[in-house]
Amino acid sequence: MIIIKPAKQIVGEIYVPGDKSISHRALILAALAEGKSHLNGLSTGADVRSTRQILEQLGLQLQIQADAVQIAGLGKFGLRESSRVLHCGNSGTSARLLSGVLAGQNFFSVLTGDDSLSRRPMGRVVTPLQQMGAKITGRQNNTRLPLAIQGEKLTGIHYLLPVASAQVKTAILLAGLLAEGETSVTEPAPSRNHSERLLSWLGLPLQQSGLTCRISSASVPEFSLQVPGDFSSAAFFLALGVLHPHAKLTLRGINLNETRTGFLRFLQQMGATCQIILTSQEPEPVGDITIQSAALQNCRLAPEQVPAMIDELPLLAVVATQAKGTLQVTGAQELRVKESDRIHSIVSQLGRMGASITELPDGFEVTGPTPLRGTTVKSLGDHRIAMALAIAAKLATSETILTGEQWIKISFPEFFQLLSKIEEG
Ligand code: S3P
Repeated sequence: MIIIKPAKQIVGEIYVPGDKSISHRALILAALAEGKSHLNGLSTGADVRSTRQILEQLGLQLQIQADAVQIAGLGKFGLRESSRVLHCGNSGTSARLLSGVLAGQNFFSVLTGDDSLSRRPMGRVVTPLQQMGAKITGRQNNTRLPLAIQGEKLTGIHYLLPVASAQVKTAILLAGLLAEGETSVTEPAPSRNHSERLLSWLGLPLQQSGLTCRISSASVPEFSLQVPGDFSSAAFFLALGVLHPHAKLTLRGINLNETRTGFLRFLQQMGATCQIILTSQEPEPVGDITIQSAALQNCRLAPEQVPAMIDELPLLAVVATQAKGTLQVTGAQELRVKESDRIHSIVSQLGRMGASITELPDGFEVTGPTPLRGTTVKSLGDHRIAMALAIAAKLATSETILTGEQWIKISFPEFFQLLSKIEEG
């Protein structure tokens, strides 16, 4: 439990830790690489630790020094069977991405997770990997963890994804790297493209046209990568930086990949002004964002805008409570199968703080502005709900008690430390 006081001012300059999605991918590709890779600034959260520990359990050796990690790649088929179950904790990205890798190995693995992850859908990754030749069984007719994976020689497939999911797309591309023949994935809408960017940057045979990407078997070269700051972590401070009446904030070294920054574009659409300075481009665009207090106007979020801000939608609900008019979010049914049912979680908890917010089957509606009042709210076991509520608490008229704040360590253990830094200026 933590008591959160409203903020008096928000000023300063901060860096946020490395991007979670890129960190998972970089660790996995470094494990499959031929030779030594160097990764700097990996995400410090528990989710990325789950991926790292599973890879270590499968025989990977790495040396960690401050925020630099050196990895002795084992090659595509150099991982070894573990005598123990592989535990993904709360991390959907670990479970889905590693399923793709394990499907093509010449050994047996069992993947499991915590209570939340064990409720989340895995059939979406099991079906295409079975079609590629892997033998995978799991609970509830092969749709839930634990999954038992007997790796096999895989054959490429052409797969049409039923939902826009970067995790599933990546699992298939990783399996495609191990498979015979060409593998292609077509998405219904563009999801985050970090895997495609990394694979192309490494010189692997990835081709993209429209919503389809294709890959063929190739070996992975060693590489050095500085992981950029996580936009999804920066987003909490962007929200506070625009909503607080006395705010000016600079966030440095942030990943500006446009498949991730839909929240920033939508804030600008609502009336926020910010300065963006691009500092590098490869393999990902990175830059500094400065934002200050502004009056915002709510509007409708089109379903096509959802994938580029899927993880920021609970935070958008907080933003909308302080903006004029009505925000309507639809086409976001995926939120129901995240770490918690994020539609229900954010509507129930912001409602307790006095927000005018209602649940829709595939989204929510918020009318503002309404003052938020301090009360007792719960994270419901979800790191992004906990941080969205902490931002709401900073804008509230009185103290808030947040329970379950320990879940924040899943993606952003430094969250409260950086929050107090920008309150002191
Ligand atoms: C992620 C993709 C998204 C996102 C998750 C991380 C990734 O999930 O919500 O936090 O790293 O690929 P889906 O791919 O299931 O949409």
